[in-house]
Amino acid sequence: MTDPRTPEAGARPAAVLKGLGTYLPPRAVSNEELSQRLDTSDEWIRTRTGIRQRYWVEPGTATGDLAVEAGARALKSAGVDGVDAVVLATTTPDHPCPATAPWVAARLGLGHVPAYDVAAVCAGFVYALANAAGLILTGVARRVLVIGAETYSGILDPTDRNTAVIFGDGAGAVVLEAGRADEPGALLGFDLGSDGEQHDLITIPGGGSRQRAGGNPFDSEDCYFTMQGKRVFAQAVTRMGDSSGALLERLGWPSATVDRLVGHQANVRILHAVADHLEIARERAVVNLDRVGNTSAASIPLALADAAAAGDLNPGERVLLTAFGGGLAWGSTALVWPDIAPN
Ligand code: COA
Repeated sequence: MTDPRTPEAGARPAAVLKGLGTYLPPRAVSNEELSQRLDTSDEWIRTRTGIRQRYWVEPGTATGDLAVEAGARALKSAGVDGVDAVVLATTTPDHPCPATAPWVAARLGLGHVPAYDVAAVCAGFVYALANAAGLILTGVARRVLVIGAETYSGILDPTDRNTAVIFGDGAGAVVLEAGRADEPGALLGFDLGSDGEQHDLITIPGGGSRQRAGGNPFDSEDCYFTMQGKRVFAQAVTRMGDSSGALLERLGWPSATVDRLVGHQANVRILHAVADHLEIARERAVVNLDRVGNTSAASIPLALADAAAAGDLNPGERVLLTAFGGGLAWGSTALVWPDIAPN
């Protein structure tokens, strides 16, 4: 019997990528600019992370604003003006409550469709894709707008050189539609995982019910993002590598047949280590973090769009997406790149 999770299953139903849109706020922040107020240097940031610059919003711009821009561009790229659901991945929602997605759906004029947020930090976009694929495969929706959007600049401790140099703001979105597994753009499978034992490696300690339950007074500094960089680095390599490997095995794709590895853009050394782990040539790893930094849930669609614009992602190529972040949470998916016009 054909394994229903492999492309050999042919005409089985699948969620298919139809459009891609991205948005970056206008202000680029260089390493030099950060070096003027932090004990760091362009040389350290470039050699240890690969990042040259990132984009940060100006005061007054929130995550939802970026999500609306990217969402509108994805709808245009897909040539559609309506969807049946909106799934938004973010670590930096407009408010702790309610979710940001309903506001985004309203601003996009999408009517009273189901709209909700997914919280899986830097793995958020892959989790949101899996979630949207589930809506499509269960018949809840025929077409879903999936957005990853972040404004990390608002949660970074401006005095912490371990985090302030790494993260950027931005948004990316895709339109998924009901189709068949043998069409280009079909999401061919998912591998997802988490490890809550290590939830403290990446955390915003305050502002949630854990702090309130502890009876601790609220301190605004507890709402800054914290990360144990070295341990996160090691976990990122292992989890993205193992998750990708498990998915490739299930799909029957030898790693040598992967044309593009689009990993979460955290650190160029992490991306190269994941490529090495999978025995995929490093040149096949898409890298755009030099331009945008780590944009967390927006990172995968921004990398896809930059690769397509550079001619590094072409119709018919096998693409592996993999992401890792706080939770810990990680996930991978794969597709054959479709003939779409990113916007
Ligand atoms: N500028 C200059 N020096 C810095 C610095 C900065 N911006 N940030 C850290 N350092 C210093 C450290 O204080 C340390 O100094 P010490 O040896 O005197 O204590 C030294 O550089 C080495 O720090 P270390 O943390 O060991 O560096 P690293 O090579 O592991 O690189 C990260 C640090 C954060 C770049 C790296 O661990 C990383 O990329 N981790 C994953 C990051 C990520 O993107 N996570 C998001 C979710 S996936």
